[in-house]
Amino acid sequence: MKVVLAYSGGLDTSVIIKWLIENYQAEVIAFSADLGQGENIEPLRKKAMETGASRIYISDLKEEFVTDYIFPALKAGAIYESKYLLATALSRPLIAKHLIEVAKAEQADAIAHGCTGKGNDQVRFELAVAALAPRLRVIAPVREWELGSREAEIEYAQKHQIPIPVTKENPYSIDRNLWGVSIECGILENPWEEPPADAYQITTSPIDAPSQPIYLEVEFEEGLPVKLNGKSFSPVDLINELNWMGGEHGIGRVDMVENRLVGIKSREIYESPAGTILYLAHRELETMVLDRETGQFKELISRQYARLIYDGLWFSQLREALDGFVNKTQTRVTGQVRLKLYKGNASVVGRQSPYSLYRYDLATYEEGDLFDHRSAEGFIRLFGLPLRIAGELG
Ligand code: ARG
Repeated sequence: MKVVLAYSGGLDTSVIIKWLIENYQAEVIAFSADLGQGENIEPLRKKAMETGASRIYISDLKEEFVTDYIFPALKAGAIYESKYLLATALSRPLIAKHLIEVAKAEQADAIAHGCTGKGNDQVRFELAVAALAPRLRVIAPVREWELGSREAEIEYAQKHQIPIPVTKENPYSIDRNLWGVSIECGILENPWEEPPADAYQITTSPIDAPSQPIYLEVEFEEGLPVKLNGKSFSPVDLINELNWMGGEHGIGRVDMVENRLVGIKSREIYESPAGTILYLAHRELETMVLDRETGQFKELISRQYARLIYDGLWFSQLREALDGFVNKTQTRVTGQVRLKLYKGNASVVGRQSPYSLYRYDLATYEEGDLFDHRSAEGFIRLFGLPLRIAGELG
């Protein structure tokens, strides 16, 4: 039997290679994706082979990640439970898609992942497989095996001469890509405890951030960011640059208790400097160009879209249908937003668009006002008619 494994090089997936060989007599092909984890993944090549894989595929998926997953979520304004920008959740369907492609090319019998039975990620991987390759078998060793703890896994690794990272034990479980970092476990499992300074990976604490603000200008075209401070950037570079700038100023930290799909509440912290800045700027530009009904209706769509990403329903009819609505709203989301970053806070200080619906001559209280004040009287009379009728009943 041939199995393609989503391989990160960490303890779990290293142990999984050996475990699949032992328990399924499998030939294991490893697959690793570069999603901007912030580390060189080339060393995984040697490591996977030493651990027993017969072959490894390494793919740089950063650009596809941004263009086909992050940008649609940004345009939709998708934020889970008002806080989480979905960095981990967005990466899963993409990894699954490529895992399936490798499985097809290799004529493999199954794919395998290292997710636990308590999390959302198993659902996301397996729903992507259900949608894209419904007959492909999925093996989830962590749900099956008896290795109940990290210690048991380390023991298994030593017994089977699996090379495992000898680095100092990290108390956190961290998932990182260029859209953000998700951190859980250790002391964070107590929701009353403040996250220790060392839990954060890419942001400076606001206390230690520069005491001078910086200003920046983001330019959007049809809902997508294309320039930063007047300079064009590729999508991946733009996000990296904003992560760097925002991270330095302590932007994008989130501490939350979230509702997992499997029914558990979990306390996690997140860092998403670029995401925080881009969401804020994008939403602000929308306030200039979308009318009231469309803007407020889109808030409902944003919430639904976030849930769909969180729940692993990326490859669904509903997502395509929502994209239809979202893309229609974005045709005039073009213009510039000026922001100020200062000690953990990103705020918008200016916005402009050639499609702006803001009219100075209607809004102004100064000279030049074109608004017909007298028409307000009749408007109020009709708008208030039901209240007057009810009021007269006493
Ligand atoms: N709770 C987040 C989600 O479901 C992140 C999960 C992965 N986090 C981690 N530290 N491994 O999308």
